[in-house]
Amino acid sequence: MFTVGMIGTSSIAHEFAKALVLSNKFQVKAIYSRTYSQAEQFGQPYGADLFYDQLEDMLMTPEIEVVYIASPNSLHFEQTMEALNHGKHVIVEKPAFSNTKEWEAAFLLAEEKGLFLFEAARHLHDPNFKKVQAEIQQLPMIDGAILQFGKYSSRYDAVLQGEEPNIFSPHFSGGALMDLGVYSLYAALGWFGEPESGQYFYKPVATGVDGAGTVVLRYSTFDVILHVSKISNLLSKSEIHSGQFTLLLDGVSNTTKVEVHDGRTGEKSERALPVSEHFMLDEVNAFARVLSEPTETKEYEEWKEQSHTVHQWLEKLRKEAGIFFDADSNE
Ligand SMILES: NC(=O)c1ccc[n+]([C@@H]2O[C@H](COP(=O)([O-])OP(=O)(O)OC[C@H]3O[C@@H](n4cnc5c(N)ncnc54)[C@H](OP(=O)(O)O)[C@@H]3O)[C@@H](O)[C@H]2O)c1
Repeated sequence: MFTVGMIGTSSIAHEFAKALVLSNKFQVKAIYSRTYSQAEQFGQPYGADLFYDQLEDMLMTPEIEVVYIASPNSLHFEQTMEALNHGKHVIVEKPAFSNTKEWEAAFLLAEEKGLFLFEAARHLHDPNFKKVQAEIQQLPMIDGAILQFGKYSSRYDAVLQGEEPNIFSPHFSGGALMDLGVYSLYAALGWFGEPESGQYFYKPVATGVDGAGTVVLRYSTFDVILHVSKISNLLSKSEIHSGQFTLLLDGVSNTTKVEVHDGRTGEKSERALPVSEHFMLDEVNAFARVLSEPTETKEYEEWKEQSHTVHQWLEKLRKEAGIFFDADSNE
């Protein structure tokens, strides 16, 4: 069992802790929160017995092998560097970093220290992510695709009232592209490869970041459109077009339906694989696999390359659209 120290106590950290416990490969050992009582309250149900309100103190604890970071995006870099410098492997929530410069510095440090640095891009490890990839390879050609990911954020109400919640803040590297577009970019780059060019058209919200938008990725013979939104619910499915065939997905993440429709015969067939009992369990198991066999780094190197490419595109699309973060001023 690998012992984990957790940073962040919001709902996604709860979900990750549940997946860690379910996996039976990790032990939730320690929690850091800015508030000591919050660390205790968060961690006790998962069996944690070390609680901190100073990050440095948690990182100095020798019993902790892996640090999981689920803080606002702009804090990931500093916390990752600190954890690596204290000899801990790191699992950092998506999007791992605010820009490519941070990404490169962090992965370089991990390599120098002989430690693993994982981006928690959970859908990459879902069986249906690879299933879609395999189904696409069976198609005679690609004519285009529309990938949708949009959900009205409970935190958008605060924006409408003049506040600046982290996920909508340029100080915390927020916005729709960073928060949800990252999933769709992983999907597009994983399923179709790197495009020749791309552009992001967005609708700003009062905080200055993108509340919703459309990415157009141009390939040599087709376009892939990504619709993202945190200010409305996108209810349509995602589609990949290939002549008479349409591959219909119920989402780019948490995919449970992968239907092949044949427009000529009217037949449809379901190709989705069964999903795990928890939506973060596949990634947790994948990280455990690499940590258990540290010399078998093929998978790790693939994830690393995918993460790098996604970060390059996130940054290019964002900056060319005119969206800048405080974290960019360190470049
Ligand atoms: N994989 C997924 O499915 C998924 C889903 C949602 C979010 N995420 C990712 O998880 C990360 C956290 O997102 P979130 O929406 O949970 O963020 P959040 O609620 O804004 O913050 C997460 C935690 O960070 C700490 N924190 C908040 N504001 C802070 C500040 N100003 N300074 C220092 N610490 C602060 C808080 O913990 P304490 O108060 O205990 O210190 C809080 O519980 C993001 O990178 C996001 O993209 C991933």
